Amino acid sequence: MTTLLHIDSSARPGRSGIDARGSHTRRLTARFVQRWRQMEPTVNVIYRDVGLHPPAPASGDWIRAAFTPEHARDASMREVLAPSDELVQELLAADVIVAGVPMYNFGPPAQFKAYIDNIVRVGKTFGFDRSRSGDPYWPLLAEQGKRLVILSSRGDYGYDAGERIADRNHVEASVRTAFAYIGITQSWSVAVEYDEFGDERLHASMAKAEQDVDRLASKLTQSNLSQSNRGHWASDPAAA
Ligand SMILES: Cc1cc2nc3c(=O)[nH]c(=O)nc-3n(C[C@H](O)[C@H](O)[C@H](O)COP(=O)(O)O)c2cc1C
Repeated sequence: MTTLLHIDSSARPGRSGIDARGSHTRRLTARFVQRWRQMEPTVNVIYRDVGLHPPAPASGDWIRAAFTPEHARDASMREVLAPSDELVQELLAADVIVAGVPMYNFGPPAQFKAYIDNIVRVGKTFGFDRSRSGDPYWPLLAEQGKRLVILSSRGDYGYDAGERIADRNHVEASVRTAFAYIGITQSWSVAVEYDEFGDERLHASMAKAEQDVDRLASKLTQSNLSQSNRGHWASDPAAA
């Protein structure tokens, strides 16, 4: 049985197409999960809404606690790390992570960055040993077949590779970098554009994104069920 970790990070509640001023990324993540459930009814879904309930950003106390070896932590350190521990547990349990990550000022929302800062944890998701020869940092979630799907939305258009303002898009690359650092290197992404215009172009972009999401969910479900995990990076769902 597959475990999906469904994360939303839009500050907008509700889904576009259903709720007034609803979120496009919430619409796409819900669709992905729904498609998966149709194909694998027994799928286990963990839901985490960091858009409406953001994790606390890393504080001085958090950093001190996280970098204190587990056996040496006192009760207050364990307490400050408890929410982060819970997020890490969810990630450890997940086979597939589907994350709705809108573009806010060219990068992910602060809410999603806070999530990343809580799951990139020394001794839990990455290792660090300054005396280690070669790379002193190493991923702890590598080769577990975990896969990441990033579903994004942008107000403007032309952010994909080779397009008008691709150089301003720091959403997918920054999310991929953080997940790859902890060992989750297989990823796919789909994005909607033109939200600020609200015209036919938005509708066309959404229709294409929904088609891509359906295709991606089908392909990943099939390959997950047959346990053939081929590692690669792709922004084109057809490559899944
Ligand atoms: C605080 C904020 C910053 C934004 N910054 C950008 C931006 O830099 N570039 C862009 O194209 N759209 C930007 N937008 C528009 C959003 O990317 C767009 O509305 C998107 O659909 C939001 O995702 P959602 O529909 O899931 O809420 C911004 C929106 C907000 C609220």
